[in-house]
Amino acid sequence: MLQFPPGFVWGAAASAYQIEGAVKTDGRGESIWDRFSHTPGKTFNGATGDVACDHYRRFAEDIRLMAELGLQAYRFSIAWPRILPDGKGPINERGLAFYDRLVDTLCQAGIDPHVALYHWDLPQVLDDEGGWLNREIADRFAHYADVVSRRLGDRVKHWATFNEPLCIALLGYFTGEQAPGHRDQTFAEANAALHHVYLAHGKAVPVLRANSPASKIGIMLNIYPVYPATDSEADRAAAFRFERFHTGWFAEPVLKGAYPAEVFPLFGPAAPPLQPGDMELIGAPLDFVGLNYYSRMVVADDPTAPDPLKTKMVHVASSEYTDMDWEIYPAGLRDLLTMIDREYHPQEIYIAENGCAMPDVPDSQGRVHDPRRVAYLQAHLQVLQQAIAQDIPVKGYFVWSLLDNFEWSFGYSKRFGIVYVDYTTQRRIPKTSYRFYQDVIRANGVAEV
Ligand code: FCB
Repeated sequence: MLQFPPGFVWGAAASAYQIEGAVKTDGRGESIWDRFSHTPGKTFNGATGDVACDHYRRFAEDIRLMAELGLQAYRFSIAWPRILPDGKGPINERGLAFYDRLVDTLCQAGIDPHVALYHWDLPQVLDDEGGWLNREIADRFAHYADVVSRRLGDRVKHWATFNEPLCIALLGYFTGEQAPGHRDQTFAEANAALHHVYLAHGKAVPVLRANSPASKIGIMLNIYPVYPATDSEADRAAAFRFERFHTGWFAEPVLKGAYPAEVFPLFGPAAPPLQPGDMELIGAPLDFVGLNYYSRMVVADDPTAPDPLKTKMVHVASSEYTDMDWEIYPAGLRDLLTMIDREYHPQEIYIAENGCAMPDVPDSQGRVHDPRRVAYLQAHLQVLQQAIAQDIPVKGYFVWSLLDNFEWSFGYSKRFGIVYVDYTTQRRIPKTSYRFYQDVIRANGVAEV
């Protein structure tokens, strides 16, 4: 048995739009994901989050499942359009009251609430004013952070401002795969969105510190370790370029307080709209960094590629891939943690998401057996334990996700849960991986395989 340190936090993660449903209940305003998912052709089979896992109404039942699992922490996000349906004001008391009840019920069950303020569901009215392209949004976000943390700051001890700025910027404004679905190939929009997300983060951090002084404050980043496809000089150079862009560009503003100097000039007029003083706010020290780890990037040189990086992603023939077509590569977690620790020295790290989509189906007795997910989790936890044994300050682990849920543009076609959701009845069926995780939590350790 590989033991984790005493006090290591075992959690599960989710986000508001992916599970809550009840999109018109108790005064919630429209979000960009409502608008996007209701636009024909944007999501698989036209799926929307209108009902999702109906968690808004079933949260007490879901917390019972968490308690039975032995969960010590639950990471969820607040839906901004429930709190400030018009983006700015007035405050919607019924929306705040929902999160109040959620937090209280978690605390009563002995589960520590870890809150993310933004997991992609911007109020539509703010997008109508330019959304993340409009610099004023940073003040709107700081106001929203103020309202929420005044109300919950006595009980919430871990606040994250944003989930995955990279996805907000790249998928929202460059590829257009996610809301608000812009496809600006000059990169100017992605860079502006990224910069304003970070500015909003920088403005919210002191607000959270003031309203919730006993809490720890951080951000969730998706940084994938990058490897060259072959040992050739061209591929190694391609991997380096890709890494500087991927980790450097999207993570260093907040981890180092600067955009990488070698990348900035590549953008010319499409560079981020920096103003004096921005980077001091953006780079203010954090208490923790949340890392969402699923896979790695394998990259080759490609002089014909349309993008300025001249790289392409490569499939590894000998590897196993998940239902998302993401390579299963547990050793990448070790390489990622080693790199983050060495380059950025965060005080504390949480694995804020880790898990896999598999094509799970109930058997004839209605049980859901998911041995590939068990193997995935087992392998990643084993690597994590080794990293911690080498003094990398990882304080907790959050499996993505407790429930199968709305997987953004993939709709309900991808199942990440350790609990199966039958969307026609909303019945929850704990999978084999739920029992596996229960054993891990009980033992505070994982068997060596
Ligand atoms: C992450 C997102 C999360 C979920 C997982 C599978 O990028 O943060 O909402 O979609 O991927």
